[in-house]
Parts: sequence; structure tokens; C-alpha cells
Amino acid sequence: MNDAVHLRSDGVSLVLDTTGPRLPRIAYWGADLGELDPSDVRAVVEAGRPPTVLNLMDEEVPVGVLPEAAVGWVGTPGLSGHRGGRGFSPLFDLVAVDVPDGDDATAGALRILGRDSALEVDLELRIALLPGSGLVRLSATLTNTGTSEYVLERLQLSLPIPAEAAELLDLTGRWTRERAPQRHAFTLGTHLREGRRGRTGTDATLLLVAGESGFGFRSGEAWAVHTAWSGNHVHAAERLPTGVSLLSGGELLLPGEGVLAPGESYTTPDVYGSHGHGLDAISARFHRHLRARPGHPRTRRPVVVNTWEAVYFQHDVDKLTRLADAAARVGAERFVLDDGWFRGRRHDAVGLGDWDVDPDVWPDGLHPLVDHVRGLGLEFGLWVEPEMISPGSALALAHPDWVMSTGDRLPPLSRGQQVLDLANPAAFEHIAGRLDALVTEYRVDYLKWDHNRDLVDGGHPTTGRAGVHDQTLAVYRLLDGLRRRHPGLEIESCSSGGGRVDLGVLERTDRVWASDCLDPLERQQIQRWTGLLVPPELVGAHVGGARAHTTGRVQDLPFRAITALFGHLGIEWDLDAALDADPAAVEELTRWVALHKRHRDLLHSGVVVRSDHPDPATWVHGVVSPDGAEALYAVVAMATSIVSPPGRLRLPGLRPDRRYRVEAVWPDGVPEPRRILPSWWAAGIELTGAVLATAGVQVPQQKPEQACLLHVTEVTAGTARTTEITGVTDDPRRAREHP
Ligand code: DGJ
Repeated sequence: MNDAVHLRSDGVSLVLDTTGPRLPRIAYWGADLGELDPSDVRAVVEAGRPPTVLNLMDEEVPVGVLPEAAVGWVGTPGLSGHRGGRGFSPLFDLVAVDVPDGDDATAGALRILGRDSALEVDLELRIALLPGSGLVRLSATLTNTGTSEYVLERLQLSLPIPAEAAELLDLTGRWTRERAPQRHAFTLGTHLREGRRGRTGTDATLLLVAGESGFGFRSGEAWAVHTAWSGNHVHAAERLPTGVSLLSGGELLLPGEGVLAPGESYTTPDVYGSHGHGLDAISARFHRHLRARPGHPRTRRPVVVNTWEAVYFQHDVDKLTRLADAAARVGAERFVLDDGWFRGRRHDAVGLGDWDVDPDVWPDGLHPLVDHVRGLGLEFGLWVEPEMISPGSALALAHPDWVMSTGDRLPPLSRGQQVLDLANPAAFEHIAGRLDALVTEYRVDYLKWDHNRDLVDGGHPTTGRAGVHDQTLAVYRLLDGLRRRHPGLEIESCSSGGGRVDLGVLERTDRVWASDCLDPLERQQIQRWTGLLVPPELVGAHVGGARAHTTGRVQDLPFRAITALFGHLGIEWDLDAALDADPAAVEELTRWVALHKRHRDLLHSGVVVRSDHPDPATWVHGVVSPDGAEALYAVVAMATSIVSPPGRLRLPGLRPDRRYRVEAVWPDGVPEPRRILPSWWAAGIELTGAVLATAGVQVPQQKPEQACLLHVTEVTAGTARTTEITGVTDDPRRAREHP
């Protein structure tokens, strides 16, 4: 093994200094450095070694993937813990660097073994540059090799980023307003995003991004980190006056969760790093990675009708049967029976845990509805919330010791519910058995798996120890076991809407519910920023009724439909009542569903692009087919603007040297809003990808909360006239800088 390793994949280079005697250091992470011979790789490492600093250590301070205070690093240490109050400052020796599974280093993965003999802990670090996506993936396992307990407090892994990353972007939010971006300067110190909700969280950042000042979707070099974990977690950006800047991630361990008995190990979640020019490039790596999962859905994403906003808890077999009929009529392909079907569940504070069908509402079980749904040719989906328990449920009364708590006091109620301690094997087996029985009896195609509260005081009631770490692993086991037993079963990760969106849960689920908010204005934002991590086919997006239940805004059907079109389409609207009240609206919806199906393959496989229009009232986003031959864009008026119409709008992401036909699309038979159209609109227009990306096209003047669609298809192969623009970027200045 060389003492410097250069991993390359998909436009990314990762150079590691594996010289020892300390743990390896990432000497460079960023744009591909090209083919380098071993001496050049060594030189990359050498050129990146920091000088000693006056009034600091007299030796070089190497900052590794696991930064260590013992070498003079005065930022946040990667590992924190102790053995009976001693051994507070670990220092690992490098024991071995090898390539797992007989790969060679160019395949992109290294396994590093470190040992702190004095502290009696071993560390296995895994560093990979993933082929196909160019994502960096880090993880570590710490083993207590001593004869007494080692108390682990933190194990966080870091990636270095350069000074050019001067600005930070992260996401926050709340129920029905998930994924709100916030930006600020990357100043000295630490920007720390802790998730302490026992779930990923409605405010989880998904990605923490550091980039060049003003970086946008299409421009600016940027680096991002994501912790693939559905429990308590950390993302941090840290900059020290010594010229070192790090992005890091890991699990946030509650007191006592990291106590390792002799011989015991702790393994971190995977921490991912993505680099690119512009946020679209950063997202594209995550999207490629998710699409390459062995479990990624390979079938067309069926259009869903979900019963929640149609009937809430008012379950009635006849009503739901009529709703299924209406679902089939508009072209839905999957019918999902949401909350309210199980024993006693007449409102949200009762019934959780009693996972059998309520005989008062469903005297013949769910079979009549399920048979009807299947008879209509639809798949059947069912809502569950397996990790939760209502205090008055039969389960809670029979097993009060299965409710998570500190041992001597119960957590405050949230939505009237508590959390089931799934790390308790008996509770786990009970729930696994109930889920298994339901999926088997009703041949359930799809589970909407909900999780509607934060884990406050989430402990094991019998021991009084913190239990979020164990709970997170137990949920993963539950999901994995169910999928193993029912290979065709699809699962949606829902958590009060978008409260559990992360790559940990996405390793074992097929879609996320982005938000309980169906208001398209909010949804444009929520889907845009959820899309930073998750590709459209994995993001549930529903058309609701005209008045959004969570905001009270009233919006036209085209705006609702165009917004939902760019995800895994669904409908959450009382179509049965709508058929009486406004049959024309249901007919229009049918046409929007048909339009979605016509473009579904493109929407669910293409590269997501978003333009950086300076006016926040004007959004352009789209999906470009991987071969660059086709694209669909939405032009969205998010608000009123002083500038209207918005002027020429750029359509990013097409191949610069190809020629395209641009056409407005609208479903046949659906009346278009009255608006003044640009001259090219009626007949369409042909332009090169370069012209579309750099000069753009005029669009109609739209009222706020209106949107239109542009379908772009390649008309000829070959080279267009604007040949000086090369490369994958849309920014001509950058294209010239980097020919
Ligand atoms: C929260 C979900 O996000 C909603 O879609 C719905 O399933 C409710 N829970 C049901 O209680």
C-alpha cells in the first residue's frame, strides 16, 4: 500500500495521506485532479502539509477523519470518552491500511485499523469514494479491548474543505413547513446542527453545505455532508484560525448510550460527503446513489389515492368504497387506507398499539374494501404507526413496561401518544408479528409507516437508560425483517410528514412523505429542498382539494397539479364529494393524471435541475433525461413581482451542442388560464441547448400561484453553432475558464 492514495470517481478526487504513525488524513477532497502518478500523489499530500504555527504546537498538527486533541487540534475532537474518568484524550497509532474484499485502492474503498494501546480501544475506519455517484462515505467502529467499561460520548467523522467555502447553507423547519433554507457566512467557530428529537426531525437539515460565496443551484463550488441516521444526530461546519475547515457528521449519543463493555463495539452511521459545482451537482450524486440501491423501486411509481384528507378518522365502508371507485376513475393505481382503521381509533389520542381491524367500523374486516380496490385493478396500501402506543390502548394497559420512559416518569404526551420500547424483545416480537399478520392477511402492497412524535425522555423503562440509539436500530431491524419476509412490499417513510427523511431510512424504504402540507405554494419550497437529497420518484407529492387544509389558501387545480407532477404523484382529496360538487374538476384531474403518466418515466429517472433566477418570485425547475434527449420544466410564479413578465428564462441542464424543440404542454380539454403569450408559444421553437441555458426563452406573464410546463425534445444530433461552450456547466464564464 502506498503512503498516499488517490481515489477517483465521477469527477471527484480524494487523496489520503496514509503515512502513519497517526491515522490517515484526507489531504484533498474536491474536483477530479486527473490521472496522477504516485510521486504526484505524494506531492499533493506534501503541498497540503501545514507549517507549524507560532504560539501553537511546535510540531505539525495533522487533522484526520477523526480529529484528535492529542496532536494539538483545538477544535472539536472526533472521539470523546473515558475509562473511569481517565483516558480522556485518545491517540491512535496506525496499525494497517487495506482494501476490503480484495478490491484494489482504485476501486474506491479503504479500511484503516488504528489502535490506542494505552486506552485499550481499537478503531476501524472505512473510507470509500463510491463508483457511480462520486459520493464519499465514511464510517467507523470502535471496540473496547480493555477489561473495564469504556464510556463513549461522541464519535464524529470529518471531511476537510478549503477556504473558498465561505458560505453555509442548511435547512430547518417544522411540521407543515419542512426544509426551509437558511444561509450565512462560514465564520470562525462551529455551526452545529444537532437533532435531538429521537427521529430525523421536521427541522433536520438533510445536507449541511459549504460553498463559494453566492453558490446556487447551477454555480459555485460546494461541499456537503449528510449523516445517514434516523435518530439523534449531528451535522457541523467548523473553521479554525489555523486555516482548517471541516464538515462533520455522526450520531448524537445520549448520556450512557455509548457505554461499551469489554469486547463491545460501537459503529457510527454512514456519513456522506458530496462535492460539485452548484447544488444541482451535489444533489445529482445523492440521486444517482439512491437510484443505484439494489432495493430502488424498479416499477413505475403508481399514482396514489390516499384517504387522509378525504375522510380523516371518519371511516365508513361505503364512503371509502365510493372513494376507491373515484380513485380508479381518475386513473389512480394505488389506494392507501390512512389512519383510522384499527381498534378504537376514532381520534388521534387512542388506539395506537391495538393493530387489529376495528370491528365496529369494519364488521367483515378490511376484506370487502381490499377486494373492491383490487377488483378495480388498484394496489392496496395501509397506514401504520408501529413505534407508537396510546396510553389507553389494550396494549398499553397490558404492558405498561413497554412504554419508553426514564424509568420513574413518563414523557409528556405528544399528539396524545407515547413511544413503544422496541428494544424490548417482547414488544418487538409483538409488533413484528402484528405487522406480518396484517401484510399477509390483506396482501398489502404498501405500508405508509408513520411516526408522529419526538422521542422526549426516550428511555428503556425497565433500566432507566437512554434508549434512542437502541430504538433507531430496532426500527431498522423491524423494517428489514418485514421486507425480507415480504419481498414485494413497499414502505413509505412518513413522520408527521417529513420528519424521517435520511439515507438510513431510505436504505429500507421506497418513498418519503415530504410534508402534511399540500398547499402547492409551500410544497414548491418543501419539494425543492427535500429534492436536495431525494430524487422525485421517492418524494410523495399529492394534489389536495382547492382549499389547502393546513394553510387555508385556495389555489387552482393546474397549480396544484403541476406542483405534484414532479414527485411520486398522489391525490388526497374527497373525490367522491367532488364528483357531486364539481364533476368538471374531477374530469380535469383525470387529465392531469394522464399527463403525469405520459411524462412519468422522464420525471422519475431524469436529472433534477433548478435555475438560479434572481427574482424570488420566479422559479424554474425541471428534469432532464440522463441521455440529454428530453426534459420537462415548470415555470412557477411564486409571488407577485414588480418585474412581470420575468424576461427570458434559462432552461438549464441540456446538452449545449444539441438542438431542441421547446413546446408548452397543457392537458387536452383543460381550460388554460387567460394570459398573454410570447410569440413562439403556440408553435413551439427550436434552439440549441447552449442558447436555452444561456439566453433562454420568454414565457407568459403569470399571476402569482400559477405555473406552466415546457417540454423539450432533441430534434437533431450533432454540433450546434455555439460550439465554444463545452462541459457540463451552463455558466458560459465557467465553461470558458474550464474548457
Ligand atoms: C401524519 C401523516 O403525515 C398524515 O399524512 C397522516 O397519515 C396522519 N399522520 C395520520 O394520523
